[in-house]
Amino acid sequence: MYTLTGVTKTYSNGKKAVNALQGIDLTIPDGQMVAVQGPTGGGKSTLLQMLGALDRPSSGSVLLGDEDLAKASDSRLTKLRAGNVGIVFQSFNLIATLTALENVEAALVPLGVPKAQRRERATAALASVGLADRTGHRPAELSGGQQQRVAIARALVKDPKVLLADEPTGNLDEETRDEIIALLEGLWRDQGLTLVIVTHDSQVAARAQRRLHIAKGKLRDTTPVPKAPAQARPPAEEPPAEERPAWSKPADEATPPAGATAASPAPAASSAAAVAPTAAVSPAAPTDEA
Ligand SMILES: Nc1ncnc2c1ncn2[C@@H]1O[C@H](COP(=O)(O)OP(=O)(O)OP(=O)(O)O)[C@@H](O)[C@H]1O
Ligand SMILES: [Mg+2]
Repeated sequence: MYTLTGVTKTYSNGKKAVNALQGIDLTIPDGQMVAVQGPTGGGKSTLLQMLGALDRPSSGSVLLGDEDLAKASDSRLTKLRAGNVGIVFQSFNLIATLTALENVEAALVPLGVPKAQRRERATAALASVGLADRTGHRPAELSGGQQQRVAIARALVKDPKVLLADEPTGNLDEETRDEIIALLEGLWRDQGLTLVIVTHDSQVAARAQRRLHIAKGKLRDTTPVPKAPAQARPPAEEPPAEERPAWSKPADEATPPAGATAASPAPAASSAAAVAPTAAVSPAAPTDEA
């Protein structure tokens, strides 16, 4: 899905330059669920902007399939974004004056979808996130969790290959967080999406097949490497499966996403397989931060 090579991003505000990304090499196979963690200011959102074609790197290449986003024209980036990538933010970013249905429909306007079809697809997308009975509500008339569901429907109505989420549960309470993660994970599995979630929440990150850590613009792959049974980690490190919420079961207990077939490593076996193509990032012990 993605191949990043030597990606740097330098922001220059007046005299002071900020090196937000400092040489990122990363491969994300189709259909993988990836969690990105790291300290504030580390470069997580900047990385997501590169993946989402919202911005170009200062140097290096960002291949989405075989197209280099670093070299694409503005109009090409707009088109790629409209068709291939859904993005969900911490602050929902809904338009306050539009209803839930209108917010979702708006994502289809740049794709030239006719009005009747926009309505039909937006209605179905809202139903798929459990909001069939809230289509006429404006954002202020919805709870935080419901607003994030609308934002997820808006991201997915265009049937993207990739869903990027930047702290999607950061503004939600714990229970709502679990609902939204379960929803995202169900959509990832059913629709064969490639899902990249930036999160400060280690419980959410533990659910991903792949874990990345980014600090000071540098990336490490922190996916726990499965060991031979004799060297397996003591079970005390994790609560028993029945004490964990459904979405936090290890990947090998989950059903593989429908779309993740021969082109990508099977999700169940992906922790080891996924580390292999990214020789440039060194696997390390999982890092948990608060
Ligand atoms: N548009 C911009 N102009 C100038 N500097 C920026 C810009 N966007 C980000 N930065 C800087 O780049 C660095 C990385 O920022 P980024 O937003 O990627 O961090 P983050 O890991 O997402 O942090 P957080 O967890 O707080 O969201 C920070 O030092 C930030 O101040
Ligand atoms: Mg951020």
